[in-house]
Amino acid sequence: MTKVLVATEKPFSKVAVEGIKEITDAAGYELQLLEKYTEKSQLLEAVADADALIIRSDKVDAEVLDAAKNLKIVVRAGAGYDNIDLAAATAHNVVAMNTPGQNANSVAELVFGLLVYGVRNFFNGTSGTELKDKRLGLLAFGNVGRNVARIAKGFGMEVTAYDAFCPKEAIEQAGVKAAESQDELFETCDIVSLHIPATPETRQSINRQLVGKLKKGGILLNTARKEVIDEEGLIALLQERTDLKYITDIKPDADATFAELFPGRYFATPKKMGAQTAEANVNAGLAAARQIVDFIEKGVTRFQVNK
Ligand code: 3PG
Repeated sequence: MTKVLVATEKPFSKVAVEGIKEITDAAGYELQLLEKYTEKSQLLEAVADADALIIRSDKVDAEVLDAAKNLKIVVRAGAGYDNIDLAAATAHNVVAMNTPGQNANSVAELVFGLLVYGVRNFFNGTSGTELKDKRLGLLAFGNVGRNVARIAKGFGMEVTAYDAFCPKEAIEQAGVKAAESQDELFETCDIVSLHIPATPETRQSINRQLVGKLKKGGILLNTARKEVIDEEGLIALLQERTDLKYITDIKPDADATFAELFPGRYFATPKKMGAQTAEANVNAGLAAARQIVDFIEKGVTRFQVNK
């Protein structure tokens, strides 16, 4: 019997797990759950006889793939797949997929939760500012960026985007101003929201020089990945530019330093909350289960990321 393991250190909502089970039951597969695990050894043990694996930000490296002798497919229920060692997956003959767009609205809504919190001075009782008429910069314009742009218009914000991989025309078609470069985006915006993946090219690319271009009172908002930030550079900049704020849904490695040095100008969610809604869990979890069934039954590889 085909066995599907859902290994989620940060579990899906109950309704999402029930939906995944309906799909795997209908296909005649067995479903196993490994939730809130604390040790890698638990994952290594659970994956031993799994044919398919559904994960979130859970790390799938060569050791996990070595332990998963029957594994044919791993689906990251979400967008970013930097937690999967793609070369090792390919070497193990394992197809890796993501579920693009399925949790994008959830992340986009959190952007505004964090932004209102930020411009109202973390609700400390002092007068803050409004988002209306402020210029919001989106680095980049994928599924999350597009949803952020849609909501930003409702707030009456002016939206600019820069995306190295998306043509200017496509950005403008969505009613968003297209910046010519990252530098221009930071120079012209009051707030920059990061929506880039963690890749060798983007690693530590959000550095002192770039963020230093933000206008007076600027906010850097990160719902993407901690790896894209040059933490040392950002700390140095925040020391120099006491008008800037850093708000993030992904705790930096230097969280304690940020918190100590920049009270009132720094906020990090205790755990990544962007995709943590029942709707996003259902969308991404069920898409992952369907992609597994489609792959096993019909060989469909539409969302494969290790081609
Ligand atoms: C993603 O890449 O889809 C988001 O960062 C969500 O990650 P999570 O599943 O760990 O919440």
